[in-house]
Amino acid sequence: MPPFLALLVLLIAQAGQVPDPLPSSWWLSRLPEGLMKRRFILDCTGCHLFDAARAFKDAAPRTADRWREDILRMFSYAGPRSSFPVISGEIDPDSASQWLGEQLRSLSSVGAGPPALPNRGRAEVREYTLPGATDLPHDVAVASDGKVLITGMFSHVIHSLDPETGAMTQTAIPIDRANPRAMELDEDGNWWVLLGGPNSLARRDARTGAWTVYPVGMYGHSLAVGGGKVWVNGHFTRDPELVSALDIASGKVSPIESPPRHPTLATAAHGGGPVPYELRVAPDGRVWVGELQGNRLLAFDPARRTWEAFTMPAPLSGPRRFDIDRTGILWIPAYSDNALYRLDPGTGRFDRYELPIADAVPYVARVDDRSGRVWVGTAAADAVFALDIASRRYASYPLPSRGALVRHLAIDPKTRDVWLAYGASPGRLSARVARLRPQ
Ligand code: HEC
Repeated sequence: MPPFLALLVLLIAQAGQVPDPLPSSWWLSRLPEGLMKRRFILDCTGCHLFDAARAFKDAAPRTADRWREDILRMFSYAGPRSSFPVISGEIDPDSASQWLGEQLRSLSSVGAGPPALPNRGRAEVREYTLPGATDLPHDVAVASDGKVLITGMFSHVIHSLDPETGAMTQTAIPIDRANPRAMELDEDGNWWVLLGGPNSLARRDARTGAWTVYPVGMYGHSLAVGGGKVWVNGHFTRDPELVSALDIASGKVSPIESPPRHPTLATAAHGGGPVPYELRVAPDGRVWVGELQGNRLLAFDPARRTWEAFTMPAPLSGPRRFDIDRTGILWIPAYSDNALYRLDPGTGRFDRYELPIADAVPYVARVDDRSGRVWVGTAAADAVFALDIASRRYASYPLPSRGALVRHLAIDPKTRDVWLAYGASPGRLSARVARLRPQ
């Protein structure tokens, strides 16, 4: 990008009148590859994007001193010793702020514009805004009647969207500050909702609409239904990490301890990490948990009550919201490694599929077993990618908004529409979800 254009971008972004016209991937590409960058992506882009609003302060690149102040403030919200420790002990405020100040000092003299998306797929994308602009649509699920259910993490309700009319209704959850984050539907259409703050799981009966709340004794991250149980993992459980199993028939909740953290995990001494993340049940009944910080995938066999651990091949990869296909293969978005990994649990082999543009920051993967494609939502590219499993080729789908951090996606089992929840916090966009309909 020529200097005058960079300056214009900067002035416009600072004035706050029009959105930053560049995707976050462009801003991240200003930073050199390496472990420091991986740490920065892992620790500093999980709530909000890295973009003009963060790179600049008062119309000039943020200085190292300024970065240090900001990082220490972020630590007070979510540092390794806070009550919401999503920032690991890996990032050191002194060296990280020096590095950021140094790398971004000459930001207005950089060359290239935003990357072009290769192999564009054809799709119709429609966005739907939520009633509260600052709500956080965390997860989406598609009901059998085609309604799209959205967890309003900050409004404490479940939104039901009629995709044709765009009308949205709200269902309250009978618990104070319910803080719904993850959601799954069981075979009978009952809703299972993970309530963060209340440390609980809630079930809404599909027939009667009645709710039952089950305390799980920890702040859960994800849930999955399988084998007559609902499985939940503790986002901030670390020594040991915990998974809880709710027995659906009896309502009894039993905690299960996972194996000790990886011996090389540097965070042990800092009080941070690992950070347990996604949880899915495989077709063989095994329960898989990922470590966003910790770099492993762990499999629990409920019949034998044994664990098996798989370490990602590259350091600080950030395995985020992975999925499992019908043959039991895992598809893992490596958040800070710009790749989708295929893990065959039988052989322990990982295969890496680099995303087609740099710094896309893959957040969530969901397999469409019918079309043989893996959909990948990204935090930084303002785009969705689909890997065709047979040809190993990606198609790219641009999204209409800048700042579309795709935190979750779900595939409508009937129409194969792909539903996306944009979840930057604080975000630059009013809260919204989108439907991507491949043509
Ligand atoms: C738990 C969520 C969360 C995480 C993780 C997080 N931030 Fe923030 N960040 C916020 C919030 C909320 C704000 C807006 C309020 C504020 O500036 O204090 C913000 C604002 C900022 C700003 C803008 C400040 C300004 O001048 O407007 C910068 C820069 C920033 N964050 C950098 C970082 C860095 C660097 C990290 C990693 C160490 C990080 N953030 C991690 C929540 C987070």
